[in-house]
Amino acid sequence: MRAMIGSDHAGIDGRNAVAAVLADRGWEIQHLGPSNVDEKTDYPDVAHDVAAGVTSGDAEIGILVCGTGQGMAMTANKYCGIRAAVITDAFTAEMARGHNDANVACFGERVLGADKITELLGVFLDTPFEGGRHGDRVNKIDRVPG
Ligand code: RB5
Repeated sequence: MRAMIGSDHAGIDGRNAVAAVLADRGWEIQHLGPSNVDEKTDYPDVAHDVAAGVTSGDAEIGILVCGTGQGMAMTANKYCGIRAAVITDAFTAEMARGHNDANVACFGERVLGADKITELLGVFLDTPFEGGRHGDRVNKIDRVPG
């Protein structure tokens, strides 16, 4: 099981928390992003790399952390086959996996803090995709016109 995780300067603590959870669960991790807050990093650069890694099959899932999670998700969702969800609470984490089969989870460290991210990541990882009618709907996501 391989995961790519990334953050900008606003999500370093969250990214480290994510790395600890994944390592604990036996995931092979590829880290992207700065190592200290002074290393200002544009979130799209990291999100592009993680989305490309998941799209190509280098990783099964991607986890992205920035200030709000929003910019990371906006960028990652430009990629066909990427289903990036901004996770804000346990219900969102559960539904993003169960109904939307999200393959990228985006967290806002300035919104949630590292401890909450740890907790919500657990819900995300523990929730299986329900398939069935949700699979039919998920298949329609990439039906882009023209
Ligand atoms: C960085 O200041 C901030 O804009 C970024 O981390 C993120 O919140 C963008 O969506």
